[in-house]
Amino acid sequence: MAVNPFEMAKKQIEIVAEEMNLNPNIRQFLKRIERSLIVSIPIMMDDGTVKIFEGYRVHHSTIRGPGKGGLRYSLGVNLDEVKALATWMTWKTSLLNLPLGGAKGGICVDPFKLSKKELEKLTRRFTAEIINIIGPDIDIPAPDINTNAQIMAWIMDTYSMQKGRSIPGVVTGKPIEIGGSVGRETATGMGLYFVLQALIDKLSLDLKSLKIVVQGFGNVGGTIADLLYKQGCKVIAVSDISTGIYYEDGLDIKKLIEWAKQGNLLKDYKNNKYKFIGNDDLLKSKCDVLIPAAIENQITEKNAEKIDCKIVLEGANGPTTPEADTILFKKGIHVVPDILANSGGVCVSYFEYLQDIHSYFWKLERINEELKGIIIEAFEETYKISKERKISLRTAAYIIAVSRISKAIELRGIFP
Ligand SMILES: NC(=O)c1ccc[n+]([C@@H]2O[C@H](COP(=O)([O-])OP(=O)(O)OC[C@H]3O[C@@H](n4cnc5c(N)ncnc54)[C@H](O)[C@@H]3O)[C@@H](O)[C@H]2O)c1
Repeated sequence: MAVNPFEMAKKQIEIVAEEMNLNPNIRQFLKRIERSLIVSIPIMMDDGTVKIFEGYRVHHSTIRGPGKGGLRYSLGVNLDEVKALATWMTWKTSLLNLPLGGAKGGICVDPFKLSKKELEKLTRRFTAEIINIIGPDIDIPAPDINTNAQIMAWIMDTYSMQKGRSIPGVVTGKPIEIGGSVGRETATGMGLYFVLQALIDKLSLDLKSLKIVVQGFGNVGGTIADLLYKQGCKVIAVSDISTGIYYEDGLDIKKLIEWAKQGNLLKDYKNNKYKFIGNDDLLKSKCDVLIPAAIENQITEKNAEKIDCKIVLEGANGPTTPEADTILFKKGIHVVPDILANSGGVCVSYFEYLQDIHSYFWKLERINEELKGIIIEAFEETYKISKERKISLRTAAYIIAVSRISKAIELRGIFP
């Protein structure tokens, strides 16, 4: 049976709460979400029929600032998944010490079955339904699986039309022409790259000699595969929802990215040297760095023993279950947790939000420099705690994140 992601998120809190000997009152807070909104989204389809979709927006915590988190369009979306993803966003913003909370949203839909017009209607109606719980001071959505800059533009426009003025700060990940930030689209991959560089320095490994496997070939997986390929690493396997492809001597990532960017699936890519492999075999391929960058719940107690790499760099949110985490730790595999590894996206989203507030836009060099500074500081702090306490990088990262949230809860107290 598939692991319930919110149960998994709560289990992770329990593990760190035990390690920190956390006050039971605070534990209760952390395991609850502040609010969730479930909405019905009726759409008049192109053929004149009406279809009703279900959408969600969840705030796990706004104790340290407005909610922040992506919006996912997928048939896998359900309330517990969104609750888990919102919870992980709270830890991520806290670990980076950004003045933001944790939120997430999604619609249970296969967006590839909709026309562009239907997708726009779905997005605009969803925005109207959740309008009272989003806004630059309340909660700021961003792209996630199957959502992109165009969808953010529709949300920003719908919100602005309802409020009577242009409010770009309601979402991040917008097109640059309407208040988006340079570097946002590649930010998550860039952050993964900075963190990997820092870790391999600690482990005295050589970047160019690394063999890489990437699960998921979208925004996150595609960007990190491309960055590492350009650095001379051998990316020996990648996958999307249709298949995995493997080539021991290293895939031509440039060509594969061009293919994927045209909207094609990997299963239709033709190269006689490349071997098609399934998801499970891809994860078990011998490599130096395994980068799960698709969905949650991929490395579980069923396959963890067979994972054959030095580093797991979590591009996706929640790809490793707590049981698998224990197995990987015992095997000596360094797991860089999602809340640290993929935090580049939310970090540059924060920069976008600042730029919108000030109506002053930064150059790419400044974005990457500030991103590197923030993410490396979080990495160093996490690494130090993990060494001192002989615990996993995940538990160490959670200790930092949870400590900040706990302090904020204590200082603010309970209303009334
Ligand atoms: N986009 C961001 O800035 C960002 C930031 C932090 C974390 N994340 C996380 O990274 C992951 C990927 O997000 P993205 O923005 O790259 O999404 P995306 O839609 O751009 O790409 C997702 C990729 O995963 C593949 N995929 C989907 N379901 C799969 C499955 N069941 N098995 C194998 N592959 C599958 C898709 O085919 C696609 O190649 C998600 O977990 C997301 O929450 C994204």
